[in-house]
Amino acid sequence: MNTQIVIIGGGPSGLLLSQLLDKRGIDSIVLERKTKDYVLGRIRAGVLEQGLVRLMEEAGCADRLHAEGFTHDGTLISFGDEMFRIDFTKHTGTPVVVYGQTEVTRDLYDAREAAGGKIEFNVKDVVINGADTDAPFVTYTVAGETRKIDCDFVAGCDGFHGVSRKTIPDDVRREYEKVYPFGWLGILSETPPVSHELIYANSPRGFALASMRNDNLCRYYIQCSLDDTIDDWSDDAFWDEFKKRIPAQQAARLITGQSIEKSIAPLRSFVTEPMRWGRLFLCGDAAHIVPPTGAKGLNTAASDVHYLYNGLRDYYENNSSDGIDAYSAKALSRIWKAERFSWWFSALMHRYPDQTEFDQRIQVAELEFLRSNDAAQKAMAENYVGLPY
Ligand code: APR
Ligand code: PHB
Repeated sequence: MNTQIVIIGGGPSGLLLSQLLDKRGIDSIVLERKTKDYVLGRIRAGVLEQGLVRLMEEAGCADRLHAEGFTHDGTLISFGDEMFRIDFTKHTGTPVVVYGQTEVTRDLYDAREAAGGKIEFNVKDVVINGADTDAPFVTYTVAGETRKIDCDFVAGCDGFHGVSRKTIPDDVRREYEKVYPFGWLGILSETPPVSHELIYANSPRGFALASMRNDNLCRYYIQCSLDDTIDDWSDDAFWDEFKKRIPAQQAARLITGQSIEKSIAPLRSFVTEPMRWGRLFLCGDAAHIVPPTGAKGLNTAASDVHYLYNGLRDYYENNSSDGIDAYSAKALSRIWKAERFSWWFSALMHRYPDQTEFDQRIQVAELEFLRSNDAAQKAMAENYVGLPY
């Protein structure tokens, strides 16, 4: 077999890249380790920057997002019973769109299927060969049969646990990591949102977040210990704790219900450099991870896809390597800013086990500064809605 681009990983990065390339007549094959249902079963943050919305439009996949997504012009930040709002539209002229990542992925799968896109599921033993030569190829097994695809380039969109990053030799690859000393316990419940906009809550008991998927589906989180398991948290225990962490007025009007999903996620910041090795390009979670505070995971994946897609277009349409040669530096420059923002926002909102009283006073001072200072709000808003590509 052969194709122009082998895309490893059928998560949002791989699917979006494949769909965009197809619109320009560039051929790709997506190799996915799991099944489509498995990929669509993963629940992830649901806040889309305009950059991603524009890419979905260009990919021809934005109809449902426009019809069903919520436009949010701001967000709420609370500490104790104090609450203030950051107005994104006032500060940046740009809102965000609240639309689940699962739905983004579903829309991309639908589009790939409608276009007859090639996606192989349940692939095993993927090996990227000759990425540092002019003739790369990928081998894998599916249903016990070994296959080989010759290609021009390989896009490593296979998430944090994929093979692509590890294909880059140890003496070339540098990794930067910060592991946070807590996790997020999240639940999904079929209840109306407690607030029209998201509430990020800093409380003496730890962080909480009120988010949503639609008018009758909510996503709520609380900071928890890394030792906790979901069996330690009954629905009642979750709601009791959640109410103690958001302002009393919102707690009083919170509608609770049975959880339909419950999970614990650790928090990590991670970046690998470079994001290109020869004819292999890393995209999305394969190259970097952010803590979920600020919902930058999917959005950073989208900016990588933007740079890579445009670089590949330049290569095939204009016979120029400039775009792909600049890929790693351009992508990383934006990634590090998103890393900084999610690290800062996490530090501002969480209780750290080793936090001293001094540290807590600094946190409150920073929250008060953010509440009262227009420039600080503008900086926060610019980062939240997404820095320009
Ligand atoms: N071979 C083939 N596929 C693989 C392999 C492999 N060796 N390893 C992993 N995969 C698949 C995974 O099963 C997964 O479906 O690659 C896909 C990677 O998808 P994501 O982890 O979702 O990563 P990405 O597409 O970059 O999305 C980034 O989505 O998943 C969230 O937190 C993530 O918000 C971030 C955004
Ligand atoms: C979510 O809706 O799951 C969500 C929203 C915002 C975040 C993180 C997660 O910062």
